Amino acid sequence: MSNEKSLVLMPGDGIGPEVVGEAARVADWLIARRRLPIRTSEVPYGYTAYKATGEMLPAATAEALNAADAILFGATGGPERDALPMAVRRKGSLLSIRKELGLYANLRPVKPFPALIDSSPLKADVIRNVDMIILRELNGGIYFGEPRGVEDLPDGGRRGFNTEVYTTPEIQRIARVAFRLAEARSGRVCSVDKANVMDCSRLWREEVTALHAAEFPHIELSHMYVDNAAMQIVRRPDQFDVIVTGNIFGDILSDVAAPITGSLGMLPSASLNIAADGSVRRALFEPVHGSAPDIAGKGVANPLGAILSLAMALRHSFAAADAADEVEQAVAAALAGGARTPDLAALGAATLGTRQMGDAVLAALEANA
Ligand code: IPM
Ligand code: MG
Repeated sequence: MSNEKSLVLMPGDGIGPEVVGEAARVADWLIARRRLPIRTSEVPYGYTAYKATGEMLPAATAEALNAADAILFGATGGPERDALPMAVRRKGSLLSIRKELGLYANLRPVKPFPALIDSSPLKADVIRNVDMIILRELNGGIYFGEPRGVEDLPDGGRRGFNTEVYTTPEIQRIARVAFRLAEARSGRVCSVDKANVMDCSRLWREEVTALHAAEFPHIELSHMYVDNAAMQIVRRPDQFDVIVTGNIFGDILSDVAAPITGSLGMLPSASLNIAADGSVRRALFEPVHGSAPDIAGKGVANPLGAILSLAMALRHSFAAADAADEVEQAVAAALAGGARTPDLAALGAATLGTRQMGDAVLAALEANA
C-alpha cells in the first residue's frame, strides 16, 4: 500500500514502555476500526537499548527514526541511564535526536479537561477557560550554544559556562510557526524573552517584532519578560493564546503551566521539523512527563499524556483530524466517567492503573463507535 505511512514507537526508559504501550493499543484500535493507513513498528532506545547493544541509540533505531513519518516516544532518563558515561549519554541523547532530525518547533498545548478542573491546585475560575499553546524553540539557545564546558582555574576552583545564542533565521522560523498557529486559533501571540537583561533576548524581540510587521500585521503580538510570564501563567493563564519562546524558557514555562491540566501526566507534545511552506517534514510526539523512575514498572503511570500525544500525531503527521478528535473525546469521556490514575486522584480516592486507564479510553472509543 503506497499511501501507507509509518508510525515508529520508541518506548525508551522508565514509564515510557508502559504509557506508549497504552497509546499503541489506541493506535491499533484506530488502524483496525477507522482503517487508517498507518503501519506501526517499535524500536529500542535508551538504557534498554544500551544493555542489548552498547549504544543508547543503535544505528538501526537511528535509521528507523530518519525514515519515519512520525515517532511516538515515551521517555528517557532514570538512575541507570544517568550512571552511563557522559559520552554514551550525549551520543544518543534526546537532545541529539531533536537536533539531528531538525525538530525545532515544540508544541505544548495546555487545555484542561472539564472533568479535571477540580484536580488542579489552581482555582477553577482561574483555569476554566484556558486554551493555550506553548511554542518552544527546540534546536537552539543555551541547550546547544557554544562555547560550553567546565574548566579548571589557576586558583584551584572551576568555571562552568554555557552560551545563550539565537540567529535571525532561527528566530524567524519559530516566530513564523507561532504566527501561523495563531492564525488558526484566536489570533494572539505573546513572545517571551528577557530583553531587559540579555542581548540575545533583545535580538529575539527585535526580530519577532520585525517579522510581525512585515508578514503578520493581522495577528495581535505582545511581549513579556519571562519572570512576569511565569507569574501570569499562574495568576491569569486564560490571557494567553500562543506563547512563543526560546528553548530554556519554554522548558521552564511548560512545567509551570502543567498543573493547569491537573497533572504533568496529562501533557502531550509535538516536536516538529516544519518546511518553509508549512508542511511537516519530521515529527516526534511525546508526553512531557519524563521517565518517572520512582513509579516505573509499577503499572500506575498515567498513559493519557502519551495517548494525547498520539492524537497530536494523528492531527499533525497523518492528516487524521477526525481520529484525533475521537481520541481526545474518548479521553474526556473516560475522565468524565471517573477514571483516575493516582496522579489525578484526590487523596484516598479509588485509582486505576496504567492498563486500566487504557481500557477506559478504549471503552469510550467503542461506546462512540
Ligand atoms: C523536556 C525535558 C527535557 C528538556 C530534558 C529531559 C532534557 O525537560 O522535554 O521538557 O529539558 O528539554
Ligand atoms: Mg522540561
